[in-house]
Amino acid sequence: MRARESGFDGVQLHAAHGYLLSQFLSPHYNKRGDEYGGTLENRARMVMETYRAVRSAVGADYPVLIKLNSQDYLPDGFSEDEMVSVASMLQDEGIDAIELSGGTILSEPAFLPVRKARLDAPEKEVFYEKSARRFKKELQIPLMLVGGIRSYQVAEKLVSEKTADYISLCRPLIREPHLIKRWKSLDLEPAKCLRDNLCFRPALKGLGIRCVVEEKMSQGEE
Ligand SMILES: Cc1cc2nc3c(=O)[nH]c(=O)nc-3n(C[C@H](O)[C@H](O)[C@H](O)COP(=O)(O)O)c2cc1C
Repeated sequence: MRARESGFDGVQLHAAHGYLLSQFLSPHYNKRGDEYGGTLENRARMVMETYRAVRSAVGADYPVLIKLNSQDYLPDGFSEDEMVSVASMLQDEGIDAIELSGGTILSEPAFLPVRKARLDAPEKEVFYEKSARRFKKELQIPLMLVGGIRSYQVAEKLVSEKTADYISLCRPLIREPHLIKRWKSLDLEPAKCLRDNLCFRPALKGLGIRCVVEEKMSQGEE
């Protein structure tokens, strides 16, 4: 309600990446014996109650989105099948869009939500393409896809082939806040982001989030 009154265009619940709502969904984290643990319906109860409370506060005409894991990439984690079921429950109750991500801080490095790999081929860019295809086949609500997207051509193809309705970018916009303007001006070189995650470093010292690659290069570091 405060977001709406302050003029924000919408709100997004965070139910991905091993944060609280994601922990409720995940059998890896959620060992509860009450009505919030056990079956998927019980594990999803906290997410659904949170969504309903937000919806009833902001009204039917205000965009409410949710970020959901496509899967946890943990041995006994939240699975892709479960993601489809929870997305379907949210769809039935009027969620406006789902942003599909994946992994938690306990996942193997290759499957963290913020994967640290260099872009070596456009076909390897998109982290959750397979899950996105399944989502689009089985659900009708808009899908926003995040994770790894670096090339205009890849982004364009995801949308034109209806693998996703919207593209989310995080680290590319930390490196190049004007990336979309650049692509619009037909400079279609891929994003310059190296996916090294050094943008977290200043934040850990309370200095905000920013790309440090150029300042490191100017100091002669690799
Ligand atoms: C510095 C930094 C902070 C982030 N903080 C959040 C966050 O608060 N909530 C969230 O859902 N994801 C957060 N992420 C993850 C991104 O939203 C995104 O899921 C991830 O970086 C993969 O997308 P990308 O390859 O476009 O960067 C953060 C990522 C970075 C690099």
